[in-house]
Parts: sequence; C-alpha cells; structure tokens
Amino acid sequence: MKNLEFRNGDKLPILGLGTWKSKPGEVRQAVYWAIEAGYRHLDCAAVYQNEREVGQGIADALADGLVKRNDLFVTSKLWNNSHRHEDVKPALEKSLNDLRLDYLDLYLIHWPVAFKPGIGLATHREEFYTYQDVPLSQTWTAMQEQKASGAAKHIGVSNFNQSKLKELLALPGEKPEMNQVELQPFLPQEGLVNFCRENGILLTAFSPLGSPDSRAERHKNDPKLLDNPIVLDIAKKHGATAGQVLIAWSISREIAVVPKSVDQSRIIENFKSTEVSLDDQDLEALVSIGISHRFADGSIFTGPQSPYKLSDLWDA
Ligand SMILES: NC(=O)c1ccc[n+]([C@@H]2O[C@H](COP(=O)([O-])OP(=O)(O)OC[C@H]3O[C@@H](n4cnc5c(N)ncnc54)[C@H](OP(=O)(O)O)[C@@H]3O)[C@@H](O)[C@H]2O)c1
Repeated sequence: MKNLEFRNGDKLPILGLGTWKSKPGEVRQAVYWAIEAGYRHLDCAAVYQNEREVGQGIADALADGLVKRNDLFVTSKLWNNSHRHEDVKPALEKSLNDLRLDYLDLYLIHWPVAFKPGIGLATHREEFYTYQDVPLSQTWTAMQEQKASGAAKHIGVSNFNQSKLKELLALPGEKPEMNQVELQPFLPQEGLVNFCRENGILLTAFSPLGSPDSRAERHKNDPKLLDNPIVLDIAKKHGATAGQVLIAWSISREIAVVPKSVDQSRIIENFKSTEVSLDDQDLEALVSIGISHRFADGSIFTGPQSPYKLSDLWDA
C-alpha cells in the first residue's frame, strides 16, 4: 500500500475506509472485513453517530491479532457544535472513548461552521455561532493543544477553502497537516489541490464514488459518477470496475481516498484499486469529462437561516 508522508515523516496509508452512513449494526463487521482485507486507514467522525460500533470493529480485529494498534491510522473529526476552546478536548475524548483508542492518528475540524453546544444540525439563526463569536483561530488553538497532549498525532481540517486555510496558515504555531475535501472527476479542484501542495498540506478525497447513498430528494437529478461512460470505458479497458477507476484516480494524484462500503465484496473490490494503474490517456479523459458537480454542496449550512455563506466554504 502506497503511503503519503506528513512533515515529520509519519505515514498515512493512501486508501482508507469511509464510515459516513454506515449503520450501527453494519459498520462493526465492515471495519473488521476491511482490516482483514488489508485496510489500515479508517475515516471516522463524531457526527456519523457510529464511532462506538467502529470501535468495536477495531477492538475485534485487535483481539483476533489481525493488526496492532500502531499499524492502524484512525481519523476522527470535531463536529460543528464543539468549536469553542473548552469544547474541543471533551469532544476528542468522547471520540476516543467511543473508538476505544487512547490516541487518534488524525483529528480534523469537520467544517468551518460553528453551532451552539448540543445542536446536531443548526436550522435556526440562533443555533449558530458566527466567526465573531467563535473565531476559527480559537478552535485551531485548541486543536494544537490536543496534538501537544498526544491525544491526536496529527491535526488538520476538512472542507476548508484557500482563504480559510490562509487564515490558519497566518497564525503562529502548528500549520494544518491535512485538508479533507470532496475530490472526484466532476470536482477535481486543481486550484485548491495545488495550494495545499505548495503549503505542505496533505489531501484526502471524500465521496470519491459520488456518494450514491446520500442522495436527498433535492439531489435526485445529480449526475451519476459510477455510470459515467468515460469512467466505464476506462474500467473496461483495464478489466476493472468503475469504482476502482475512481479510487485509482485519487491515488494517481497522490491524494488519500476513503471510499465507504459496508459490503464485503465491495470493500475488497475497492482495496484492489491499488492494483489499477491509470495511464496518461485515462487521466486526460477524466480531466476532460465535461461535467462539473459538487455532491456535498454545503447548502445545509448556508442559506437564510445561517450566518454563513457558500463563499465561506468554497472558492469561487
Ligand atoms: N469530511 C467530510 O465532510 C466528508 C463528507 C463526505 C464524506 N466523507 C468521508 O468520505 C467517505 C466516502 O464518501 P461517501 O460515503 O460520501 O461516499 P462514496 O464513498 O463516494 O460512496 C459510498 C457509496 O458507494 C457504494 N459503493 C462502495 N463501493 C462501491 C463500488 N465499488 N461500486 C459501486 N458502489 C460502491 C456504497 O454502498 P455499500 O456501502 O453498500 O457498498 C455507498 O452507497 C465517507 O464515508 C466519510 O468517511 C467526509
């Protein structure tokens, strides 16, 4: 398995298992199957409401001797309702407790959007904090303390655009080590990718398959990535599946990638993406795919009920 490298030389396995929407009751087994298949990187978050079951899957694998803790790379994310300085440590401790771990390999600020404590999803103006109430610098200071304490070996962000990253880069202290964002052929984000590379920030691609299980009614007309004819042609050429081509695309860009599955055969299929080697012609075809689409559009965090604008999330 190819690794990416943090500034201190620590390694991040380039392919991991996503766990958003993986139901309690399914994800314990999925995590076990993934570790058994060779995955060493797990992408988790408090808001997925399944970290206890993910933790059980990890514990099962450790107990059966499939892997040792220090061979696993586990990421979790700080939810929007815990951005105040005093809320970060307890949020991290809750994730550690649920995951049955004594440290995380990577802890990310999930979104540059803050809710008041206890609010799962803010739907009214009074349930949000603004950047004046809780500046991102306050959250970032607390994240650095978690790294200093050893509770998180690495720290970073998710869904941060260039201007938000610049804000953190301008602060004294630790620089973000990771930005986890949506990256797939309908959304290659070349500008953001180059900016991160220039600033020594690693990238993780989320929703690499176009997140087909997260389609809300308002997304029912979204383009389908897994059925795209260009993706299917490349898959046919390599004797691979569409999913494998999409995962291999991120790997070819030296970007970590975390496809979600709770199905054993797809977990194994996705792992074998590391064996698919895309050539220049394939890469050219994928960049010229001709469809531009963001699946996780951030609209639930913006709009008239919110102090945040889409420009707080995405570069123009
Ligand atoms: N930081 C963030 O804000 C953020 C946002 C979104 C996602 N993420 C992370 O990224 C992970 C992946 O993104 P995602 O869950 O949105 O979607 P995704 O990985 O793009 O797609 C997952 C869906 O594809 C199906 N699938 C998996 N492998 C397949 C294959 N080889 N062929 C066909 N279908 C396949 C899965 O079904 P089965 O489970 O039935 O196989 C599931 O329905 C998340 O789970 C989460 O860890 C992070």
